Formats: sequence, structure tokens, C-alpha cells
Amino acid sequence: MRCYLHAYLLCSAFTLCSILYVCSQLASTSEGDREGKAAARSSHNEGDAVRKIPGLLGLRDRDFEQNRCKSLSVSYWNPYWRLPADVCGANCLLESPLRGKLKSAAKEPKNESSHLAVVACGPRLEETVTMLKSAVLFSKKPLHFYIFAEDELHDGFRNALETWPPMIRTKFTFTIYPILFPEENASEWKKLFKPCASQRLFLPLILKQVDSLLYVDTDILFLRPVEDIWSLLSQFNVNQLAAMAPEHEEPRIGWYNRFARHPYYGKTGLNSGVMLMNMTRIRGKFFKNDMTAVALQWGEILMPLLQKYKLNITWGDQDLLNIIFHHNPESLYMFPCQWNYRPDHCIYGSNCQQAEEEGVFILHGNRGVYHNDKQPAFRAVYEAVKQYPFGENLAVSLLQPLEAALQTTTHTYCGRSSHLFTKRLKESIKSV
Ligand SMILES: *[C@@H]1O[C@H](CO)[C@@H](O)[C@H](O)[C@H]1NC(C)=O
Ligand SMILES: *[C@@H]1O[C@H](CO)[C@@H](O)[C@H](O)[C@H]1NC(C)=O
Ligand SMILES: *[C@@H]1O[C@H](CO)[C@@H](O)[C@H](O)[C@H]1NC(C)=O
Ligand SMILES: *[C@@H]1O[C@H](CO)[C@@H](O)[C@H](O)[C@H]1NC(C)=O
Repeated sequence: MRCYLHAYLLCSAFTLCSILYVCSQLASTSEGDREGKAAARSSHNEGDAVRKIPGLLGLRDRDFEQNRCKSLSVSYWNPYWRLPADVCGANCLLESPLRGKLKSAAKEPKNESSHLAVVACGPRLEETVTMLKSAVLFSKKPLHFYIFAEDELHDGFRNALETWPPMIRTKFTFTIYPILFPEENASEWKKLFKPCASQRLFLPLILKQVDSLLYVDTDILFLRPVEDIWSLLSQFNVNQLAAMAPEHEEPRIGWYNRFARHPYYGKTGLNSGVMLMNMTRIRGKFFKNDMTAVALQWGEILMPLLQKYKLNITWGDQDLLNIIFHHNPESLYMFPCQWNYRPDHCIYGSNCQQAEEEGVFILHGNRGVYHNDKQPAFRAVYEAVKQYPFGENLAVSLLQPLEAALQTTTHTYCGRSSHLFTKRLKESIKSV
């Protein structure tokens, strides 16, 4: 009898210890100062939370997959599997330190973090790291990066970011996520445009605890602090929930107005390479549409839209965004072209008026111009940021080599406009 009692007491003591241990682990997770570990944990947690079926995926997609993203590692994310809002899941544990920051930022609005999201697949690791580098170089306020990437790239990102010098490391935190799609019709979303591009459409539903986000393509470079574009969020009127730049300034060379076989926003459509989102508002909004008489929420509108327009869309998720804002124009804040400056703005002569006046703020090297010889001026900026050694003087080791390289590009139209590339950059460098 006494023996049983002993055993029982021992068991109880052990259980209590385990509970205490788990609690202390959870507490240390939510302290979250070691972002690397948190990131590692996050990808694990999410890997478990969403069912991973790589085998099935391989079967389903073998016939369709283009070889751009050969070994796609995609996790299924089931939108119907949702934790109740008040239950703390993997995401919310991870984000609680951020929420803490946001709360303290409410008292001192000057130190609010900017939240930057990017989606990287295939051979985009180096380009993405260079983009993130340009973000930390000029920003004076803290940054948080949400990096969605194929599993094979996770270590690459972690190694790159964690080996940046401690001085730089204090300026940002980051979380790495696997690519997540709704379980239903995941393969269709994946096929859309580039394999991982449509991920961005789901960010408001995946990052449920995050209020606002700046989404950028991997091929953009910040030439001015991230907090400057972030501050546009506070200029939204009560209806606006996202901000983007026009696809074109010049309708005569515009794509949507000449070729699109679907509705698009405004005169020349929207470019979604730099997209500011108030996701709280996106999640709360009912969107007018041309499919049903009732307005639909973000999570409900995407799949019907894809089904209706999939034969008519060319640029994938950007086209879907154009259709949505065509029907809900009051929800969009349009920012000028200097926040999303592309080869189209100089390729046949300069047509971005605001960049002429104030310089380029964010450079967007789409169509691979950082890696080919079609637009050497764009490539020169990319190489200058990539090669700049952290800690060196920015004016000497970034600006001077860049200006020298741009001198050699004046045989191209964009090269002739390249003083606009450094105009704002010079000020950003001075103020660091
Ligand atoms: C604001 O953030 C910077 C680093 O980004 C930090 O050095 C500074 O102490 C912070 N200020 C306040 C008031 O928290
Ligand atoms: C998924 O795709 C199939 C075939 O393309 C379609 O019939 C089905 O309705 C889609 N599912 C949803 C939820 O839209
Ligand atoms: C798709 O394009 C064709 C040809 O321009 C057009 O007739 C059709 O109405 C379009 N479909 C939708 C859903 O707009
Ligand atoms: C986003 O919108 C919500 C609801 O209107 C608002 O409370 C929040 O402050 C906005 N976020 C930012 C960063 O402006």
C-alpha cells in the first residue's frame, strides 16, 4: 500500500515538474530576443501545424510544374483550420514580443517598427538578401522581416542574416516561414504566374496578428529608409487599406490599357511589386465584386476570382489585385512612381515626373535587369549595394563606386536618367 502511495507521489511530482518546465519554455519563447531560434522554432511549429504532404504534391504537380522552381517545398495551409482569436498559437507566441513593441510604440510613436515581408523561391536568395541589406543600411527605426521561402532556402537566409555585424543585427529581427497555400487548390495557386508569387495574396490571412505590412518583390532596392514609406500608412483615409504605384505613367506604352482581358485599376493598372497593406482593414473589409451580388471577404474572394479569370490573366496575382481594386477603387491609396521605379520609367525616355523632381526612392529591377545586361544602370545599383562591405563609409564605399559605374551606362536611356538613382540616395547616406 505504502509502495503505491510512494509511486503516486513520485508521479505527481514529476508531472508538476514537467508542467513547470513547459511553462518556462513558453515564457522564454515569448521573450523572443533570440530571433534566430524563434525563427527556427516557427518554421517547425508551422510545419507541424499545417499538414505537409510533399509526396502528394509531387504527384499532383509533376505534369504542370515548370522547372523554374524545381523542388518546390510547399506546405498546405488550411484556412478552415484556425485557432480561435483568443488562443495563443505558434504565431501569436512569436508575435507577442512584436505586439509588446507596438504597444510601447504607441506611447512613443517615434520608434515603431516597420514590418517588411518578402517571398523568395528558386534562385532568389542572394537578390533577397541584397534587398534586405538595402533596407537595413538606410533605416533608422527598427525593422522586422517576414521571410517566406522554400525550405531549402531557410538555412541560407539564417546564415546570411546572422553573420551580419552586431551593429547591424541590432537594427532588425526576422522570422522565416515556409511557403503556405490554402489546402484547397494549392497547386493552382502555385502555378499562377511564378510558383511562389501568389503567396503574397494570403499574407493577411496567414499573419493574422500583424496589423500592417510592407510587401516587396525580391528585386527591389531601398534608396531611402523603410520608415519613410511605412509612414504613408498614417496618411490613409478611412476607406484605404492598401497602397501601390501605377503600372505605367504613359498610357501609350501601358500594358493593361492596351492588352488586358480583365478589369484593372485606373488608367494604366497597378504594379504590386511594392505594396503597403493595412491588413487589419483588409481582414475586416467586404469587397464588391463581379461574381456575386454580395460583397466578399478577402479569404472568400480569391478562389472564385481565380476560377473566373484564370484564362484571361497574364501577370498572376498582380492581375487579381487589379481586378479587386477595379471594383473597390476607394480602398486604394496610390503612391507616386518614385516609390516603385522600374525600367519602364526610363527605357524610352524619362516619364516618372516625381522621380525627376525628388529622385528615386525605391528601385524595382523587374524582368531580371539586375542579372542581365539590358539595363546596366539598374544592375550597377544592385552590384553597388551587394558589394558594399558593412561598416565602411557609405559615401566612399557605396556612393563613389556606384557613381563611377553609372558613368559607363550613359549610352542607354536609363543610364542618362541615372542621376535620379543617386539623388535621394545621397541624402539617405548623409542622414545615416
Ligand atoms: C529606438 O530604437 C533604437 C534602435 O533602433 C534604439 O537605439 C533606441 O534606444 C530606441 N529608443 C527608444 C526610446 O526606445
Ligand atoms: C478547385 O479547382 C477545381 C478545378 O479547377 C474547381 O472545380 C474547384 O471549384 C476549385 N475549388 C474551389 C474551392 O474553388
Ligand atoms: C476573357 O477574354 C475574352 C476575350 O477577350 C473575353 O471575351 C471574355 O469575356 C473574358 N473573360 C472574362 C471572365 O472577362
Ligand atoms: C490599420 O487600420 C486599423 C483599423 O482601422 C487601425 O486601428 C490601425 O491603426 C491601422 N494601422 C496603421 C499602421 O495605420
